[in-house]
Amino acid sequence: MLKLPGLIDPHVHLREPGAIHKEDFDSGTSAALAGGITVVLAMPNTKPPIFDSNTLDIALSAAKQKARCDYGQYLGAGPENSDWGNHLAAASQSAGLKMYLDSTFGELRLDDMTLWMPHFQNWPKEMPIVAHSESRSMAAAILFAALYDRPIHIAHISLKEEILLIKAAKERGIKVTCEVCPHHLFLSKDDIPSISHGHPGRGEVRPRLATKADVNAMWEHMDVIDCFATDHAPHTVAEKDSENPPPGFPGLETILPLLLTAVHDKRLTLDDLIQKTHINPKRIFNLPDQPETWVEVDEDEQYEVKASEGFTRCGWTPFEGWKVRGRVRKTVLRGQTAFEDGRLKVEAGYGRNIRESAN
Ligand code: NCD
Ligand code: ZN
Repeated sequence: MLKLPGLIDPHVHLREPGAIHKEDFDSGTSAALAGGITVVLAMPNTKPPIFDSNTLDIALSAAKQKARCDYGQYLGAGPENSDWGNHLAAASQSAGLKMYLDSTFGELRLDDMTLWMPHFQNWPKEMPIVAHSESRSMAAAILFAALYDRPIHIAHISLKEEILLIKAAKERGIKVTCEVCPHHLFLSKDDIPSISHGHPGRGEVRPRLATKADVNAMWEHMDVIDCFATDHAPHTVAEKDSENPPPGFPGLETILPLLLTAVHDKRLTLDDLIQKTHINPKRIFNLPDQPETWVEVDEDEQYEVKASEGFTRCGWTPFEGWKVRGRVRKTVLRGQTAFEDGRLKVEAGYGRNIRESAN
Protein backbone atom coordinates (compact mmCIF):
# COMPACT_ATOMS: atom_id res chain seq x y z
CA MET A 1 0.00 0.00 0.00
CA LEU A 2 1.32 3.40 -1.00
CA LYS A 3 0.37 6.59 0.82
CA LEU A 4 0.37 9.88 -1.11
CA PRO A 5 -0.59 13.44 -0.22
CA GLY A 6 -4.07 14.42 -1.47
CA LEU A 7 -3.83 15.45 -5.10
CA ILE A 8 -4.52 19.07 -6.05
CA ASP A 9 -6.12 19.59 -9.45
CA PRO A 10 -5.85 23.23 -10.50
CA HIS A 11 -7.95 22.85 -13.68
CA VAL A 12 -11.45 21.37 -13.46
CA HIS A 13 -14.75 22.21 -15.17
CA LEU A 14 -17.65 21.43 -12.85
CA ARG A 15 -20.41 22.95 -15.05
CA GLU A 16 -22.29 24.57 -12.20
CA PRO A 17 -24.15 26.86 -12.72
CA GLY A 18 -25.82 26.21 -16.03
CA ALA A 19 -25.01 22.72 -17.29
CA ILE A 20 -25.46 20.37 -14.35
CA HIS A 21 -26.66 17.59 -16.62
CA LYS A 22 -22.93 17.30 -17.54
CA GLU A 23 -21.58 17.66 -13.96
CA ASP A 24 -22.17 19.61 -10.77
CA PHE A 25 -20.25 20.31 -7.57
CA ASP A 26 -21.55 17.04 -6.10
CA SER A 27 -20.81 14.64 -8.95
CA GLY A 28 -17.54 16.37 -9.90
CA THR A 29 -16.11 16.41 -6.37
CA SER A 30 -17.24 12.79 -5.89
CA ALA A 31 -15.22 11.87 -8.99
CA ALA A 32 -12.31 13.86 -7.56
CA LEU A 33 -12.30 11.92 -4.27
CA ALA A 34 -12.57 8.63 -6.15
CA GLY A 35 -9.52 9.77 -8.11
CA GLY A 36 -7.48 10.63 -4.99
CA ILE A 37 -7.95 14.39 -5.48
CA THR A 38 -8.72 16.46 -2.38
CA VAL A 39 -8.71 20.00 -3.88
CA VAL A 40 -10.25 21.07 -7.19
CA LEU A 41 -9.98 24.56 -8.63
CA ALA A 42 -13.11 25.16 -10.73
CA MET A 43 -13.01 27.03 -14.02
CA PRO A 44 -15.32 29.98 -14.71
CA ASN A 45 -16.65 29.14 -18.22
CA THR A 46 -20.07 28.19 -16.86
CA LYS A 47 -23.51 29.58 -17.73
CA PRO A 48 -23.49 32.34 -16.69
CA PRO A 49 -19.73 32.69 -16.60
CA ILE A 50 -18.21 33.50 -13.19
CA PHE A 51 -16.80 37.00 -13.61
CA ASP A 52 -17.92 39.24 -10.72
CA SER A 53 -19.04 39.07 -7.11
CA ASN A 54 -22.65 38.11 -7.94
CA THR A 55 -21.75 35.22 -10.19
CA LEU A 56 -18.97 34.16 -7.79
CA ASP A 57 -21.61 33.99 -5.02
CA ILE A 58 -23.79 31.75 -7.20
CA ALA A 59 -20.95 29.27 -7.73
CA LEU A 60 -19.65 29.41 -4.16
CA SER A 61 -23.05 28.88 -2.60
CA ALA A 62 -23.69 25.85 -4.82
CA ALA A 63 -20.23 24.55 -3.90
CA LYS A 64 -20.84 25.12 -0.18
CA GLN A 65 -23.97 22.97 -0.30
CA LYS A 66 -22.73 20.28 -2.66
CA ALA A 67 -18.95 19.88 -2.76
CA ARG A 68 -17.51 16.80 -1.09
CA CYS A 69 -13.83 17.70 -1.49
CA ASP A 70 -12.19 21.10 -0.96
CA TYR A 71 -12.50 23.59 -3.78
CA GLY A 72 -11.68 27.01 -5.14
CA GLN A 73 -13.49 28.93 -7.86
CA TYR A 74 -11.77 30.99 -10.57
CA LEU A 75 -13.04 34.30 -11.85
CA GLY A 76 -12.94 34.77 -15.62
CA ALA A 77 -11.40 37.76 -17.37
CA GLY A 78 -13.84 39.40 -19.77
CA PRO A 79 -13.78 42.56 -21.88
CA GLU A 80 -15.55 44.63 -19.22
CA ASN A 81 -14.57 43.39 -15.76
CA SER A 82 -10.95 44.47 -15.42
CA ASP A 83 -11.45 47.09 -12.65
CA TRP A 84 -10.33 44.60 -10.00
CA GLY A 85 -9.15 47.39 -7.72
CA ASN A 86 -12.86 48.02 -7.02
CA HIS A 87 -13.62 44.32 -6.53
CA LEU A 88 -10.87 43.15 -4.24
CA ALA A 89 -13.20 41.14 -2.03
CA ALA A 90 -14.32 38.97 -4.96
CA ALA A 91 -10.73 38.61 -6.19
CA SER A 92 -9.52 37.45 -2.78
CA GLN A 93 -12.34 34.89 -2.45
CA SER A 94 -11.45 33.36 -5.82
CA ALA A 95 -8.89 30.73 -6.72
CA GLY A 96 -7.39 33.14 -9.23
CA LEU A 97 -8.09 34.85 -12.56
CA LYS A 98 -8.55 32.71 -15.69
CA MET A 99 -7.77 34.44 -18.95
CA TYR A 100 -9.00 32.81 -22.16
CA LEU A 101 -6.65 34.16 -24.79
CA ASP A 102 -7.62 31.58 -27.42
CA SER A 103 -11.00 30.38 -28.56
CA THR A 104 -12.58 27.61 -26.55
CA PHE A 105 -15.84 26.35 -25.08
CA GLY A 106 -17.97 29.11 -23.52
CA GLU A 107 -18.31 32.89 -23.76
CA LEU A 108 -15.25 34.20 -21.94
CA ARG A 109 -12.62 35.39 -24.36
CA LEU A 110 -10.19 38.28 -24.74
CA ASP A 111 -9.59 38.63 -28.45
CA ASP A 112 -7.43 41.67 -28.41
CA MET A 113 -4.27 42.44 -26.41
CA THR A 114 -5.61 45.85 -25.32
CA LEU A 115 -8.15 43.81 -23.32
CA TRP A 116 -5.38 41.85 -21.59
CA MET A 117 -3.54 44.91 -20.31
CA PRO A 118 -5.94 46.20 -17.63
CA HIS A 119 -6.32 42.69 -16.19
CA PHE A 120 -2.55 42.34 -15.81
CA GLN A 121 -2.44 45.82 -14.31
CA ASN A 122 -5.34 45.56 -11.88
CA TRP A 123 -5.55 41.94 -10.75
CA PRO A 124 -4.00 41.74 -7.23
CA LYS A 125 -0.33 40.80 -7.41
CA GLU A 126 -0.55 38.06 -4.80
CA MET A 127 -3.41 36.24 -6.57
CA PRO A 128 -2.74 33.72 -9.38
CA ILE A 129 -3.34 34.35 -13.08
CA VAL A 130 -3.92 31.31 -15.31
CA ALA A 131 -3.86 31.71 -19.08
CA HIS A 132 -5.39 29.50 -21.72
CA SER A 133 -2.99 30.49 -24.46
CA GLU A 134 -1.70 28.24 -27.20
CA SER A 135 1.40 28.57 -29.34
CA ARG A 136 2.06 32.21 -30.30
CA SER A 137 -0.51 33.64 -27.94
CA MET A 138 1.42 31.81 -25.20
CA ALA A 139 4.54 33.72 -26.20
CA ALA A 140 2.53 36.94 -25.89
CA ALA A 141 1.15 35.93 -22.49
CA ILE A 142 4.67 35.20 -21.22
CA LEU A 143 5.83 38.59 -22.49
CA PHE A 144 2.98 40.19 -20.53
CA ALA A 145 4.12 38.38 -17.38
CA ALA A 146 7.61 39.81 -17.92
CA LEU A 147 6.39 43.35 -18.71
CA TYR A 148 4.07 43.48 -15.71
CA ASP A 149 6.58 41.58 -13.57
CA ARG A 150 4.10 39.10 -12.15
CA PRO A 151 3.70 35.33 -12.12
CA ILE A 152 1.60 33.61 -14.77
CA HIS A 153 0.53 29.97 -14.91
CA ILE A 154 0.02 28.54 -18.39
CA ALA A 155 -2.80 25.99 -18.64
CA HIS A 156 -2.59 22.68 -20.48
CA ILE A 157 0.55 22.96 -22.60
CA SER A 158 0.71 20.35 -25.35
CA LEU A 159 3.26 21.31 -28.02
CA LYS A 160 7.02 20.93 -28.23
CA GLU A 161 7.40 24.62 -29.15
CA GLU A 162 5.42 25.53 -26.01
CA ILE A 163 7.51 23.55 -23.56
CA LEU A 164 10.72 24.85 -25.16
CA LEU A 165 9.41 28.42 -24.87
CA ILE A 166 8.55 27.94 -21.20
CA LYS A 167 11.94 26.38 -20.54
CA ALA A 168 13.66 29.39 -22.13
CA ALA A 169 11.46 31.86 -20.24
CA LYS A 170 12.21 30.14 -16.92
CA GLU A 171 15.95 30.22 -17.69
CA ARG A 172 15.64 34.01 -18.13
CA GLY A 173 13.96 34.33 -14.74
CA ILE A 174 10.44 35.08 -16.00
CA LYS A 175 7.87 33.97 -13.43
CA VAL A 176 6.08 31.41 -15.55
CA THR A 177 4.75 28.03 -14.47
CA CYS A 178 2.82 25.45 -16.46
CA GLU A 179 0.65 22.37 -16.31
CA VAL A 180 0.27 19.35 -18.59
CA CYS A 181 -2.84 17.17 -18.78
CA PRO A 182 -2.69 13.37 -18.76
CA HIS A 183 -4.37 13.25 -22.19
CA HIS A 184 -1.46 15.23 -23.65
CA LEU A 185 1.01 12.84 -22.00
CA PHE A 186 -0.69 9.54 -22.81
CA LEU A 187 -2.52 10.25 -26.10
CA SER A 188 -1.52 11.69 -29.45
CA LYS A 189 -3.58 12.51 -32.52
CA ASP A 190 -2.84 8.98 -33.75
CA ASP A 191 -5.11 7.70 -30.98
CA ILE A 192 -8.16 9.65 -32.18
CA PRO A 193 -9.63 6.77 -34.23
CA SER A 194 -9.51 4.40 -31.26
CA ILE A 195 -11.07 6.98 -28.92
CA SER A 196 -13.76 7.86 -31.43
CA HIS A 197 -15.33 4.49 -32.29
CA GLY A 198 -16.80 6.15 -35.35
CA HIS A 199 -17.85 9.30 -33.45
CA PRO A 200 -15.21 11.91 -34.32
CA GLY A 201 -16.51 14.30 -31.63
CA ARG A 202 -15.08 12.04 -28.93
CA GLY A 203 -11.55 12.95 -30.01
CA GLU A 204 -12.22 16.71 -29.77
CA VAL A 205 -10.40 18.53 -26.98
CA ARG A 206 -8.71 21.92 -26.63
CA PRO A 207 -5.79 22.06 -27.00
CA ARG A 208 -6.14 19.32 -29.62
CA LEU A 209 -4.29 16.03 -29.21
CA ALA A 210 -0.84 16.67 -30.65
CA THR A 211 1.74 14.68 -32.59
CA LYS A 212 3.88 11.91 -31.13
CA ALA A 213 6.86 14.27 -31.33
CA ASP A 214 4.99 16.79 -29.17
CA VAL A 215 4.05 14.08 -26.66
CA ASN A 216 7.68 12.93 -26.52
CA ALA A 217 8.80 16.50 -25.87
CA MET A 218 6.58 16.63 -22.74
CA TRP A 219 8.23 13.47 -21.37
CA GLU A 220 11.72 14.66 -22.30
CA HIS A 221 11.23 17.97 -20.50
CA MET A 222 9.52 16.61 -17.40
CA ASP A 223 11.65 19.01 -15.31
CA VAL A 224 9.96 22.01 -16.98
CA ILE A 225 6.44 20.81 -16.02
CA ASP A 226 5.26 22.28 -12.72
CA CYS A 227 1.86 20.61 -12.40
CA PHE A 228 -0.26 17.82 -13.74
CA ALA A 229 -3.86 19.01 -14.16
CA THR A 230 -6.80 17.11 -15.57
CA ASP A 231 -8.68 19.88 -17.45
CA HIS A 232 -11.62 17.62 -16.55
CA ALA A 233 -14.11 18.91 -19.16
CA PRO A 234 -17.19 16.68 -19.00
CA HIS A 235 -19.71 16.66 -21.86
CA THR A 236 -22.27 13.88 -22.18
CA VAL A 237 -21.86 11.05 -24.67
CA ALA A 238 -24.91 12.32 -26.59
CA GLU A 239 -23.30 15.77 -26.87
CA LYS A 240 -19.93 14.35 -27.92
CA ASP A 241 -21.61 12.20 -30.58
CA SER A 242 -23.82 15.03 -31.91
CA GLU A 243 -23.42 17.12 -35.08
CA ASN A 244 -21.69 19.88 -33.16
CA PRO A 245 -19.55 18.14 -30.55
CA PRO A 246 -18.16 20.33 -27.74
CA PRO A 247 -14.43 19.81 -27.03
CA GLY A 248 -13.31 18.28 -23.74
CA PHE A 249 -12.35 15.06 -21.95
CA PRO A 250 -13.19 13.95 -18.40
CA GLY A 251 -10.09 13.15 -16.32
CA LEU A 252 -10.57 13.23 -12.55
CA GLU A 253 -10.81 9.47 -12.11
CA THR A 254 -8.00 8.49 -14.47
CA ILE A 255 -5.13 10.89 -13.67
CA LEU A 256 -3.68 8.98 -10.73
CA PRO A 257 -3.85 5.43 -12.17
CA LEU A 258 -2.31 6.71 -15.43
CA LEU A 259 0.52 8.46 -13.58
CA LEU A 260 1.10 5.46 -11.30
CA THR A 261 1.29 3.23 -14.36
CA ALA A 262 3.99 5.56 -15.71
CA VAL A 263 5.81 5.25 -12.36
CA HIS A 264 5.61 1.47 -12.60
CA ASP A 265 6.94 1.63 -16.17
CA LYS A 266 9.81 3.85 -14.94
CA ARG A 267 8.79 6.75 -17.17
CA LEU A 268 8.13 8.96 -14.13
CA THR A 269 9.49 8.99 -10.59
CA LEU A 270 7.21 8.88 -7.59
CA ASP A 271 8.90 12.06 -6.41
CA ASP A 272 7.92 13.81 -9.67
CA LEU A 273 4.36 12.60 -9.26
CA ILE A 274 4.14 14.09 -5.74
CA GLN A 275 5.85 17.34 -6.75
CA LYS A 276 3.53 17.94 -9.69
CA THR A 277 0.24 16.82 -8.14
CA HIS A 278 0.68 18.32 -4.68
CA ILE A 279 3.77 20.31 -3.73
CA ASN A 280 3.98 22.63 -6.76
CA PRO A 281 0.26 23.37 -7.17
CA LYS A 282 0.00 24.07 -3.43
CA ARG A 283 2.76 26.67 -3.74
CA ILE A 284 1.73 28.19 -7.08
CA PHE A 285 -1.92 28.63 -6.05
CA ASN A 286 -1.09 29.52 -2.45
CA LEU A 287 -3.33 26.84 -0.95
CA PRO A 288 -3.76 26.13 2.76
CA ASP A 289 -2.62 22.93 4.47
CA GLN A 290 -5.14 20.13 4.60
CA PRO A 291 -4.25 18.45 7.89
CA GLU A 292 -4.71 14.67 8.17
CA THR A 293 -5.28 14.34 4.43
CA TRP A 294 -3.87 11.54 2.29
CA VAL A 295 -4.60 8.92 -0.37
CA GLU A 296 -3.95 5.19 -0.08
CA VAL A 297 -3.35 3.33 -3.31
CA ASP A 298 -2.76 -0.30 -4.07
CA GLU A 299 0.11 0.31 -6.47
CA ASP A 300 0.20 -3.29 -7.71
CA GLU A 301 -3.46 -3.72 -8.55
CA GLN A 302 -4.09 -3.83 -12.27
CA TYR A 303 -7.51 -3.02 -13.62
CA GLU A 304 -9.32 -1.89 -16.70
CA VAL A 305 -10.69 1.67 -16.95
CA LYS A 306 -14.48 1.59 -17.30
CA ALA A 307 -16.58 4.74 -17.57
CA SER A 308 -19.52 2.80 -16.18
CA GLU A 309 -17.73 2.60 -12.81
CA GLY A 310 -17.10 6.35 -12.58
CA PHE A 311 -18.76 9.09 -10.56
CA THR A 312 -18.60 11.74 -13.26
CA ARG A 313 -21.97 12.40 -14.83
CA CYS A 314 -20.64 12.54 -18.39
CA GLY A 315 -20.64 8.76 -18.83
CA TRP A 316 -17.54 8.23 -20.95
CA THR A 317 -13.75 8.40 -20.91
CA PRO A 318 -11.14 8.55 -23.68
CA PHE A 319 -9.24 5.85 -21.74
CA GLU A 320 -12.03 3.24 -21.87
CA GLY A 321 -10.55 -0.26 -21.71
CA TRP A 322 -7.02 0.89 -20.81
CA LYS A 323 -5.18 -1.45 -18.46
CA VAL A 324 -3.74 0.61 -15.63
CA ARG A 325 -1.84 -0.24 -12.49
CA GLY A 326 -2.56 1.53 -9.19
CA ARG A 327 -6.03 1.62 -7.63
CA VAL A 328 -7.20 4.32 -5.22
CA ARG A 329 -8.35 2.41 -2.12
CA LYS A 330 -8.99 5.24 0.26
CA THR A 331 -9.03 9.04 0.32
CA VAL A 332 -8.85 10.71 3.72
CA LEU A 333 -9.73 14.41 3.89
CA ARG A 334 -9.22 16.43 7.06
CA GLY A 335 -9.37 13.38 9.30
CA GLN A 336 -12.43 11.78 7.68
CA THR A 337 -12.39 8.84 5.31
CA ALA A 338 -14.02 10.48 2.29
CA PHE A 339 -13.82 7.57 -0.17
CA GLU A 340 -13.07 3.89 0.41
CA ASP A 341 -13.27 0.82 -1.83
CA GLY A 342 -15.51 2.37 -4.44
CA ARG A 343 -17.82 4.17 -2.01
CA LEU A 344 -18.14 7.80 -0.92
CA LYS A 345 -18.02 8.29 2.83
CA VAL A 346 -18.63 12.03 3.22
CA GLU A 347 -21.79 13.97 2.48
CA ALA A 348 -22.32 16.73 -0.04
CA GLY A 349 -21.28 19.94 1.74
CA TYR A 350 -18.23 18.44 3.49
CA GLY A 351 -15.87 20.29 1.13
CA ARG A 352 -14.47 23.68 2.08
CA ASN A 353 -13.53 26.76 0.09
CA ILE A 354 -9.73 26.96 0.09
CA ARG A 355 -9.92 30.77 0.35
CA GLU A 356 -11.89 30.70 3.60
CA SER A 357 -9.91 30.51 6.80
CA ALA A 358 -10.13 27.22 8.66
CA ASN A 359 -12.12 28.63 11.59
C1 NCD B 1 -13.04 22.95 -21.98
C2 NCD B 1 -14.51 22.90 -21.62
O1 NCD B 1 -15.22 22.03 -22.13
O2 NCD B 1 -14.97 23.71 -20.80
N1 NCD B 1 -12.81 22.14 -23.12
C3 NCD B 1 -11.64 21.58 -23.49
O3 NCD B 1 -11.58 20.99 -24.57
N2 NCD B 1 -10.58 21.65 -22.71
C4 NCD B 1 -12.64 24.36 -22.21
C5 NCD B 1 -11.21 24.65 -22.00
O4 NCD B 1 -10.58 24.19 -21.06
O5 NCD B 1 -10.67 25.44 -22.78
ZN1 ZN C 1 -10.16 23.81 -19.27
